Formats: sequence, C-alpha cells, structure tokens
Amino acid sequence: MSAFPRAVAEGWHPIASVRQLGARPLARRLMGVPIVVFGGADGPAALIDRCPHRNMALSRGALRGGAIECAYHGWRFGGDGRCTLTPGASEPARHAVQALPIVVRAGLIWTTLAKSPSSEPFLPDPVAARGYDTFLWPVKAARARLIDAVENLLDPAHPHFLHAGIVRARDVRRPVEVTVRVRPTFAEAVYVENARASALMPRMLEGLRVASIGRFFPPATGQIAFEGKSGLKLAITVFFTPETDSIVRPFAHFATPKGVAPAFIKEALLRAFHIPVLAQDRAALRKQIDDIEAFGAPKYALGPLDFLFPAINTLAAGETPEPSDRTATVEL
Ligand code: FES
Ligand SMILES: [Fe+2]
Repeated sequence: MSAFPRAVAEGWHPIASVRQLGARPLARRLMGVPIVVFGGADGPAALIDRCPHRNMALSRGALRGGAIECAYHGWRFGGDGRCTLTPGASEPARHAVQALPIVVRAGLIWTTLAKSPSSEPFLPDPVAARGYDTFLWPVKAARARLIDAVENLLDPAHPHFLHAGIVRARDVRRPVEVTVRVRPTFAEAVYVENARASALMPRMLEGLRVASIGRFFPPATGQIAFEGKSGLKLAITVFFTPETDSIVRPFAHFATPKGVAPAFIKEALLRAFHIPVLAQDRAALRKQIDDIEAFGAPKYALGPLDFLFPAINTLAAGETPEPSDRTATVEL
C-alpha cells in the first residue's frame, strides 16, 4: 500500500450511506484497512473488520440486536467494539475490536483513520444547504487511483472524446472564458459558456448554460455545478473514498433548485443521463490504471487545459496553496 496524500490520510471519508445499512454488515475498506459497518444499538457503527479471537472478518458474521456476531465462534461485539457475549462462557471475553469514530452527515456515514481528526467532515455548499431537491447516489467501487478519479470528474477536456455525443459533441467547439481561482482551502475553475449545450441530453436538461464550474475541496471532494441565467441549476458533489490505492468508492450527491419539476422526475432524468457517462468514465479509469501499472507508476504531463490538477495535488497533500486568480480562453 503506497502512502496517501496527507489531507487524504488524515481526512474524514464516507464509507456507506445510511440507507445502505441493512440486515447484513457491510464489508468496506478505507485506505487499505478493512472495516465493517453496521447499524448498532446506538446508531451506525464502524469497527476494524477483524475478530480479535481468530482474525475472522466480522463482516462475515451476522447482526444480532445491534451487535455483530462473529461467524466462527459466535463472539458478539457492540458498536463500541467491546465483546458483549462469548458463547459457552458466563462472562464475555475481555477483548475488544477497535471502533472507529463515526459522524453521520448528509445521509452518509463518515469515518477517519486520523490519530487526532478534525471534528467534522467538510461539506461544501449546497450539500448542507436547505431549499434544494437532493438525492444521494452511492456508486459501486471502481478500479481507479484516487487522484485520477477526482480529476476525471473535473476535467473539461475528455467529454468530447470519451462521452462524444452525450456530454459534448466531438467536433463542435466554442470559445469559453475560464477563470481559475486557487484558495487556501479549495480550487475552482469557472467556464463561462453562454451557449446552448452542444450535445442532446444536457441541452434538454439545462437549456441555456451560462457557466459550468469544477471545484475541488480536500481531502477528496469534487464538485461540478451548472448555472443558468437565474443561478444554480445543478450541483453534483462527489466524495471519493479511497478503499485502496487502486480502488475508489464514490458517493455522489445531486442538488437541484426546488420547483422546476417534481424531484422524482429530475432524479430519474439525471440517473438516466449519467448511467452511460459513468460507465464510460469507469471503463476509462480502469484502463488508465492498467496502463499506469504496466509502467509501475504514473508520470503526468501538465496540459494547457489541466487547470485544477496542480491545486488538487497541493490541497490533497495538506499543503496550503498560494491564492491565485487567472483567466484563459479555451475551446470546449
Ligand atoms: S474467530 Fe471470531 S469468535 Fe472465534
Ligand atoms: Fe467523464
């Protein structure tokens, strides 16, 4: 397991959505560490996924009244990790599993491996705001490197090719004014388009697109937002959880202003549009990591449209970038 950038290693990450908790424990990983997530007696719980008795993964076991029962000899552990029952003995064994800190925000269960974590995960607007129709889309874990997956969401240059005809038309380009702002806690690129989208689906969904924005917030949150004349039309915020150095589990949060159409119709349209796009991105990221691994390690050239790449790396490393503003004109 290679080292993760410092802000990632010390940050809060979602490991499951509250709605994913059910009758069976969930086996997850965070930066290579196996974790079992379940609905405990006092709410969601996350434990290191290793029975202290004979090392069987607790996620192979079953939930019994808010405790997790190991599949091998039936020891039970509560959400705090303490052994509550050792079958055949009058007293439970005095062995505990390490419990991880848990915070529930925006319908997601967050944890951290940091020794002295910050008190809260950071939620960018509009995730924590009121007045929006929202839905969560916990995406299947994908084979990808974390930074490659984050950049893929924010990269304006690949849709003409990878998503030709869906997100952008391959051979239609228009001048776009880009403003890149780097701040101590985030970086954003604002693309002012003032045009109807070139591909069919975004044209139907959006009408006139005034601006699209890509943002990065450490440890590993990407956001793309689309604005029309009257303000925000859609914000997609993706929390990318590094399960290992080659597997990423994204949790996507969609927000649209209330009132335009019923929330369930917007959700159905947005999902229908994004299913093929997501499949194309997943396939590309999988090929990209296969191709990187053929050489052992990545080596990146900085292209003229890679507006956020340096700041993503600086912020993910837990460093504070120099504030900067710059503008450019490109064709998208
Ligand atoms: S290995 Fe878990 S109870 Fe024995
Ligand atoms: Fe994409």
